Amino acid sequence: MTAAGIPTARARVATTPADAEEALREFGAPYVVKDDALAAGKGVVVTADLSVALAHAAACRRVVIEEFLDGPEVSLFAVADGLTAVPLLAAQDFKRAQDGDRGPNTGGMGAYVPLPWAPAGLTAEVMATVVQPALDELARRGAPYRGLLYVGLALTSKGVRVVEFNARFGDPETQVVLDRLATPLAGLLHASAVGDLDTSRHLAWRPGAAVTVVIAASGYPEEPAKGDVITIKDLPSNALPDGTDGYLLHAGTALSGGDLVTSGGRVLNAVGSGADLAAARAAAYAVAECVEFRGGWYRRDIAERASAPG
Ligand SMILES: Nc1ncnc2c1ncn2[C@@H]1O[C@H](COP(=O)(O)OP(=O)(O)O)[C@@H](O)[C@H]1O
Ligand SMILES: [Mg+2]
Repeated sequence: MTAAGIPTARARVATTPADAEEALREFGAPYVVKDDALAAGKGVVVTADLSVALAHAAACRRVVIEEFLDGPEVSLFAVADGLTAVPLLAAQDFKRAQDGDRGPNTGGMGAYVPLPWAPAGLTAEVMATVVQPALDELARRGAPYRGLLYVGLALTSKGVRVVEFNARFGDPETQVVLDRLATPLAGLLHASAVGDLDTSRHLAWRPGAAVTVVIAASGYPEEPAKGDVITIKDLPSNALPDGTDGYLLHAGTALSGGDLVTSGGRVLNAVGSGADLAAARAAAYAVAECVEFRGGWYRRDIAERASAPG
């Protein structure tokens, strides 16, 4: 990112406790300590407590210590063909397990599009200052990037900053982004794969909003229960508000002797869409209520704040 001039958090690498302490004191609280290794989503510790930050650094071989980025997070996906890219819709997900963004970090408990509160021009800005410079730098190094570039952003008081890149679609943002995509996905992915994206042709989006609510197994994220029988009740005829649509996507499910059973922490996604976020949200929760299994649970506040009037 530094080579490409992409805005991100100031950072230092530390391999010893003394280095880590010096970097933590330089940036100050809140402290951000990232394991420089794959860590199944548990590599990043953000804490106001210096001793917790130091303990995490000591438990890792090598860490990246970063300046804390304030402000809301946004995910923007771009489909790249090696030279250039087209953006999908900016989305927001909910990483914490419990309502009000409390509890442990998860893979994501829900998501929504669009973001009524995001600044106009955000997508164009991120394409110009993050995505295209990243693609240019990778191509310059002889490693052109084709595929889905996931940009995790913080909209800080000092401007847009990259939190991370992932080289894949992100879950659960993908569920709501693809719900709104009217352009066939296959043609887009093919153009990405063969290096033939037409960036002058804009993607077509269905108007309105989409919300997804993740239905999780008991014990998720620490130790999700598996093998519980899932019952899906019929949707009552009046359950979906007028003009909305709703459906379930399977994630951590399996068939066992003819029964549908849980087989992962995040079991099903209830997706709702409608003219606005309030309608989409009502549809998603109406669908979620049809699912029953032992210990199943979901957050009740997905897209609540963004859909509130005013
Ligand atoms: N510099 C930072 N400042 C504030 N929060 C951060 C920072 N870096 C990461 N985080 C928080 O930690 C979460 C996980 O970090 P991320 O880099 O996305 O790692 P992972 O690979 O685990 O997803 C982010 O979504 C964000 O909430
Ligand atoms: Mg992340």
